[in-house]
Amino acid sequence: MNAINILSKSTMKLPSRVLSLRNASFLGLRYSFNPPCCEEKLTCKSKAILLIFNQNSQFHAYPSRFLGFQRILNNTQRLYCLPSSGFAQPRAVSRPYRVSVEARVASRVRDLSTSVETRVNDKNFERIFVQDGINVKPLVVERIDKDESIVGGDQVPLTEDENNVNNIRVGLEEGKAGISVEIDIEKEAWDLLRGAVVTYCGTPVGTVAANDPADKLPLNYDQVFIRDFLPSALAFLLKGEGEIVKNFLLHTLQLQSWEKTVDCYSPGQGLMPASFKVRTVPLDDNKFEEVLDPDFGESAIGRVAPVDSGLWWIILLRAYGKITGDYALQERVDVQTGIKLILNLCLADGFDMFPSLLVTDGSCMIDRRMGIHGHPLEIQALFYAALRCSREMLTVNDGSKNLVRAINNRLSALSFHIREYYWVDMKKINEIYRYKTEEYSLDAINKFNIYPEQIPSWLMDWIPGEGGYLLGNLQPAHMDFRFFTLGNLWSVVSSLGTPKQNEAILNLIEAKWDDIVGQMPLKICYPAVENEEWRIITGCDPKNTPWSYHNGGSWPTLLWQFTLACIKMGRLELAQKAVSLAEKRLAIDRWPEYYDTRAGKFIGKQSRLYQTWTIAGFLTSRLMLENPEMASLLFWEEDYELLEICVCALSKSGRKKCSRGAAKSQILV
Ligand code: GLC
Repeated sequence: MNAINILSKSTMKLPSRVLSLRNASFLGLRYSFNPPCCEEKLTCKSKAILLIFNQNSQFHAYPSRFLGFQRILNNTQRLYCLPSSGFAQPRAVSRPYRVSVEARVASRVRDLSTSVETRVNDKNFERIFVQDGINVKPLVVERIDKDESIVGGDQVPLTEDENNVNNIRVGLEEGKAGISVEIDIEKEAWDLLRGAVVTYCGTPVGTVAANDPADKLPLNYDQVFIRDFLPSALAFLLKGEGEIVKNFLLHTLQLQSWEKTVDCYSPGQGLMPASFKVRTVPLDDNKFEEVLDPDFGESAIGRVAPVDSGLWWIILLRAYGKITGDYALQERVDVQTGIKLILNLCLADGFDMFPSLLVTDGSCMIDRRMGIHGHPLEIQALFYAALRCSREMLTVNDGSKNLVRAINNRLSALSFHIREYYWVDMKKINEIYRYKTEEYSLDAINKFNIYPEQIPSWLMDWIPGEGGYLLGNLQPAHMDFRFFTLGNLWSVVSSLGTPKQNEAILNLIEAKWDDIVGQMPLKICYPAVENEEWRIITGCDPKNTPWSYHNGGSWPTLLWQFTLACIKMGRLELAQKAVSLAEKRLAIDRWPEYYDTRAGKFIGKQSRLYQTWTIAGFLTSRLMLENPEMASLLFWEEDYELLEICVCALSKSGRKKCSRGAAKSQILV
């Protein structure tokens, strides 16, 4: 069946939701790296030419300029493409697809100059094939015990994956019961991690969020989450297995270009999905086809946009280059464009008065209402890290030099803002305690009009003499004094904090070990919100009850970021202590997503088991401790040049003193 045939037949079924493609990914740039899906019906010739195109193209362009065909989603959000040449209007097809580009199109593209505009309406770019079906290969995983196949009298025959996980579980139960079963935790973790690998058209592209065969209601935990994949990716990279990471980066890049809509409104083009799923769709003749099905928040609980996804993607792209030495990936034109699209979204001018990024509640790891709307530390720290990554990776030329300048300015302003206004230690609390309010002037000390009564009583007793931390959030008349672990750790890792602050953050964790680590590393935030505060802040969320889940629950996945921060600050003993705590329980408890209670004593109330980022976080921590030098590729030292940048007009006019200049001596050391 030829491509056009499929398309015209398929126009019969019109899907209910419409998404359109604003990206030039169909030019072949983004798919040519991964040809297996094209093998059945598309010729090898076209693949070869596409690869040549990849290497030679000087095609510097924003893909958004290549309009001309639409993608149509049906209610399972499948993506389809159709050529506009030959059709008067973009049309809908309701069959899954694989994109490739006709050979002669690719060879034409190869000859393009760097100018893009003149090509916008060139219909030849839009000839796209619908990919034929393939049979989906089952995952091949190593069995621990070949004879054990069904556990607990389950009547439903189990898949090979399920058997594998169950075999491991049986082994653990036996171990718990005192029967001497030597369990190599690391081996088990690797088996589970490999069992969580998701393939697309025969190649590995990510890992599912959780892989518990007993879970009959996985919701979206059977998807590949961008943020969850980070520790998996690092474990694979540190083990010398880069392919899955490269595939992940390129496939998610492809998804970035979708135009997504929630009730007819579209977020920005650079948005990366929170997660994606590989769906298998039956075709004629007992064949199957796989489709990538992303979720940008339009299906997510609360409909939150995952602001952190793009930032994690950039961070992973740099890590991939650093660890594998394959810098060619980040130099690719489509990858450079992907970075720019994310940055354009983050750096877009708005109403902001601050250099920090303004987001809604739940736009990061804490992906439901927890009172972190505004300028939460987690997003600021990841934003800072992503800006530092981008600065290293962007190819500087006429097309990117303004962006690079904007990045430098933002890095400088953001670090000043966070260092100066988010920092809390004993001294600072005492200052806030004595704040005057309602100060109207440029010289106000209490710039955000914080009423001292806001200092929570727990903090007065809790703050240690040694150490300090960065606030969870800062808004007009609002300081969120909760300690958020991920944001603080990434401030250390990215050097968003000053060297002294970074040291003090680890000192605080050490001093408050029982509260932040307890029996399972590490608390997502401290303390939990309770009673009336819980009602107001979470909206009475039964999952986020005090000391559970996002509300003071303990998340073992945070271990790898803690380990990284400790390695950076030369505190290996702290990381080792945390890893051995985790080691005692994780495998026995079946790798839970999170733990509950003040000390992290119980497996979380609604915690998933066999949670991939718990497993991968543990492995990555171990690998980094074994090879701290390799880990050092993943963090940043202070950048003294950045500290010098100040673009504010005050320094030029001489009318007023620049507040950054005045504060510099205290904060920037
Ligand atoms: C939960 C977490 C989120 C994670 C997802 C998949 O929603 O809050 O951070 O990405 O589960 O594991």
